[in-house]
Amino acid sequence: MKATKVIKIGIVGLGAAAQAFLPSFDKHPMVQLVGVCDPNGAVNDQVQLLQGVSYYASLEAMLQGQAEMDAVYIATPTDLHVSHALQAMQAGKHVLVEKPMANTLSDALKMVQVAKQTGTLLMVGHSHSYDRPILEMKKLIDSGDLGAVQMVNTWCYTDWMYRPRREEELDHRLGGGVTYRQGAHQFDIIRYLCSGLARSVRAKTFNMDPQRSGIGAHSVFIDFEGGASATAIYNGYAGFSTMDMGFDISEWGFEEPWGVRKWLQKPLNAMSASEELKAKRDRAKGAIPHQAPFQPFFGVTLVSCELGDIRQTPRGLLICKRNSRQEMVLSTELSPRDLVVKELYDSLSQGLKPAHSGEWGAANLEICEVAIESSLQRKEISLRHQVSL
Ligand SMILES: NC(=O)c1ccc[n+]([C@@H]2O[C@H](COP(=O)([O-])OP(=O)(O)OC[C@H]3O[C@@H](n4cnc5c(N)ncnc54)[C@H](O)[C@@H]3O)[C@@H](O)[C@H]2O)c1
Repeated sequence: MKATKVIKIGIVGLGAAAQAFLPSFDKHPMVQLVGVCDPNGAVNDQVQLLQGVSYYASLEAMLQGQAEMDAVYIATPTDLHVSHALQAMQAGKHVLVEKPMANTLSDALKMVQVAKQTGTLLMVGHSHSYDRPILEMKKLIDSGDLGAVQMVNTWCYTDWMYRPRREEELDHRLGGGVTYRQGAHQFDIIRYLCSGLARSVRAKTFNMDPQRSGIGAHSVFIDFEGGASATAIYNGYAGFSTMDMGFDISEWGFEEPWGVRKWLQKPLNAMSASEELKAKRDRAKGAIPHQAPFQPFFGVTLVSCELGDIRQTPRGLLICKRNSRQEMVLSTELSPRDLVVKELYDSLSQGLKPAHSGEWGAANLEICEVAIESSLQRKEISLRHQVSL
């Protein structure tokens, strides 16, 4: 699985998520985008503007047309991830797959098994544990200066339910709704900071708007081996914004004070499915900007260790001990997606297992699945697929 040459990569599905990766593929000197496949013919017009990149209408055609391609990045709707990943790995291609990696834990484990059988790398990303403040929180925890991590509380209040969407995006059976789509980020952050070994979950999910049915909010408690615990709160109903607690900094690191927030222009429930899909496609190109002036803020994450607490600031981290407060300023030179591409390249070139491996992504996914089940059953549920960092 070692690669010492330029890695040629193809994109499967050039929608909102994949648009955001284009600058990062372009920026990495050892990664070259060579193909894009997407059955939406309009994507071809955009691909024509990308030098040295060929358009294909299907993954099958791209695999046939690009025999030299080393890896694919899969950013198709979540319910298609398993079939696309299996197809690519069986053709000998390494896979970077978007989060959540599949709809079900059993599909995710199938992907992990096929990666092993074919000797290909399976990685899951982007997710917000690649945000520089989260990576640095982890380093601070590991340094031991603040004692053992005890609690991680992450709160995110957004307009997720009212952004333009494909219909499946609100259906949790297809990997939709906030517990799969946004919980996948939160559980990844929490597990990353608590070193992975989550043991049980108790959760409550909420479907608050009959005009826009789907899981739009959750409250999840996660207990870890070793004594730490965490809460993930998400509310996607466009009321309160965590930007109001997070210095007006958006998910992608831009200043968005009340009044200029784009989420004030909600898509209306009166839109037809095809109008909404068009609105989603129109929004996709600028939805996730690349270089940002501030650190990305996926809600507010507060870490409590035995000897102090850590939280984000617009420029980095605030470390609060009993008698001191210190701000650590962090670089914004590499975006979170630059860091995903770096991890992919480093893993392939050095033959290393990435932190965000298939097994890791499957464990995040199990929490999404179990959180919904815990809410239905109104009880705590033990996790089966435990993976440490
Ligand atoms: N990491 C993040 O921050 C982030 C952000 C948004 C979405 N996502 C994830 O990315 C995935 C896609 O979400 P999205 O919002 O970009 O969706 P999208 O609808 O904007 O994009 C999906 C693209 O896949 C294409 N597609 C559909 N069937 C295909 C096929 N058989 N072969 C090739 N292409 C096909 C569609 O035409 C579309 O262009 C989801 O899993 C979602 O959870 C991640």
